[in-house]
Amino acid sequence: MNFKIVENRKLSEKDFLLTVEINDRKLLNKIKPGQFAMVSVSSPQSFDPLLKRPLGIFNVEENNISFIYRVYGRGTKLLTTFKKGEQVSVLLPLGNSIPDQFDRYLFIAGGIGIGGVFLAAKTFLQAGKDVHLLYGEKSKENLSALPVIEKYKIPTTTFTEDGSYGKKGFVTEGLSEFKDRVWIACGPIPMLKAVKETAEKLKVKCFLSLDMRMACGVGACLGCVVKTTSGYKRCCVEGPIFDASEVLL
Ligand code: FES
Repeated sequence: MNFKIVENRKLSEKDFLLTVEINDRKLLNKIKPGQFAMVSVSSPQSFDPLLKRPLGIFNVEENNISFIYRVYGRGTKLLTTFKKGEQVSVLLPLGNSIPDQFDRYLFIAGGIGIGGVFLAAKTFLQAGKDVHLLYGEKSKENLSALPVIEKYKIPTTTFTEDGSYGKKGFVTEGLSEFKDRVWIACGPIPMLKAVKETAEKLKVKCFLSLDMRMACGVGACLGCVVKTTSGYKRCCVEGPIFDASEVLL
């Protein structure tokens, strides 16, 4: 479907926030934290590039949903040229969601991985659950989501690799303090491996939100498969949220 762009704003050197308006309450009500969308990076009049990009649903506010994205290549660069008032083609909501049956959560976001966990942290906190977020980046200028995290008063510990903001070091260095929570992590694969290993060592229930390359986003191309203890699974349909003890990274 095509939706009107409310804003497509630069947040930091490489990160942007794309917000679209969805005047369809039924569709908005279907969105669950942890799900993603396939967002076209070509205008509705053009089909180049043909493939949409998978983006985690970062936030839902009234009739607006937003995505936080980092410019990596041609597709995301093209997305930055989209202007307020233009239309963008978005397929959503896709994939499974973050389990919501627990009372105490630790969300672990490495860099742009904040896009995969922020909505759950916000929603669960508003539902009265005990939520803490570990948010890590290279340095202060890359902490693109910090203003939104502060707006929603999410209890957060921030890490920067160069020590320019918050604690100095990797986000994974703060894990052992939070053994009494369910962990939900999203970020680069080396970070997810470290989180998985620590969770296994400390016997903590842990889920990973995997950000795999995707072509179709709906289970047809098998381009996004991940190896698990019960065979290969499609990240776009059986994921993107996997039990860390089942996924083989
Ligand atoms: Fe095509 Fe997942 S992206 S099957």
